[in-house]
Amino acid sequence: MPVAGLPHTARSPLQQRYAQVRARSLELAAPLSAEDQCVQSMDDASPTKWHLAHTTWFFEAMVLCPHSPGYRPYDPRYFYLFNSYYEALGPRHPRPRRGLLTRPALDEIHAYRRHVDAGVRQLLLDGPAAQRPQIERLLVLGLQHEQQHQELLLTDILHVLWCNPWRPAYLPAGKAPSPRAAGRTPPRRWLSRPGGVAAIGHADKAAEFAFDNESPRHEVLLRPYLLDSGLVTCGQYAEFIADGGYQDASLWLSDGWARVRAEGWRAPLYWLNEDDAPAPQPGGWEVFGLGGLQAMDPGAPVSQISFYEAAAYAQWADARLPTEFEWEAAAGEPGFSQAADSVWQWTRSSYDPYPGFRAQSGALGEYNGKFMVGQLVLRGASCATPPGHGRLTYRNFFPPQARWQFSGLRLAKDD
Ligand code: AVJ
Ligand code: FE
Repeated sequence: MPVAGLPHTARSPLQQRYAQVRARSLELAAPLSAEDQCVQSMDDASPTKWHLAHTTWFFEAMVLCPHSPGYRPYDPRYFYLFNSYYEALGPRHPRPRRGLLTRPALDEIHAYRRHVDAGVRQLLLDGPAAQRPQIERLLVLGLQHEQQHQELLLTDILHVLWCNPWRPAYLPAGKAPSPRAAGRTPPRRWLSRPGGVAAIGHADKAAEFAFDNESPRHEVLLRPYLLDSGLVTCGQYAEFIADGGYQDASLWLSDGWARVRAEGWRAPLYWLNEDDAPAPQPGGWEVFGLGGLQAMDPGAPVSQISFYEAAAYAQWADARLPTEFEWEAAAGEPGFSQAADSVWQWTRSSYDPYPGFRAQSGALGEYNGKFMVGQLVLRGASCATPPGHGRLTYRNFFPPQARWQFSGLRLAKDD
């Protein structure tokens, strides 16, 4: 309620959302020490501190510098440190060396966040009116971008903690996000789906936000197919392992088998058994997650597998992975469960542009379009995805060997 005699200070829905999303990133980092937040455990993963800074840089580079006449950058040297991959915005610090950034200190990154937050507040108060719609669109994109990094912050810190011999938990098991068994859903079964023309992708005129890679909406031709109503579980995956799945080349794509051999894969990334040192309890699998090391839950969806492992499992199960179009055409239909609450689902679809896709010009055109080669699409969302971030048209993508995401699978078959 505005107080009589004081200026009306109610915040707009966008301001509120901005405050919530920005605060959420700090909440996610809060269980971690400054040391935790500086480490980079592999080239693909970024330190927490870098995520906190890069998402801030995104608002500075994409919104404040181009659209806020009075804005002064917090520190111009940060442009080099926290530009991720935008060629249009100049040279940048090499990705594999992000963990070497002991300076600026974490406190300074927090100050950087406050500086940019103040700049955004000011822009919303007195920004150029003519640019207002564009500014609001960019802020919404910046928040969606920050939510993508909130998931990456969790998957990346999970890898950091995994690399520590103590295998520390991010949060106590009851409080940590983890792929859980399907709740009170009906037992899994094959859903029979008709063939024919299906409309795929996001309808551009809809009010809801979508990334550019979800458009244009277009038609695809499907043949009749069967789709599992739920996800492959850890218990099922353990049978594949016990049946020699990781020793049988005939189940694997050639590139996948090469990875199995070169990297010694014998189970999902965070699975341990008595063959591992220091040995957990004998006679069963343990699975490391954000809640620490836990006995494998046979009913929980399998997670932290590569596309190659998903494809080999499907081969072993006498099934196949669905295309992203089969997935989208069935999601939201009766019987389809676990669309978005546990693990991303590998599809058999290459991450390609939809017919008619054209990336916009300038830096923002680099957001998604330039990665459309050599990667596979994952659909759904995971336990690490911020609530409300996903959509049935959402296209996540990773290279086929990536294993550190909350990624599992749903089976399909020809009907
Ligand atoms: C959609 C998760 C593959 O990790 O680069 C972050 C998300 N895009 N900043 C990625 C993203 C720009 C993207 N993924
Ligand atoms: Fe980014």
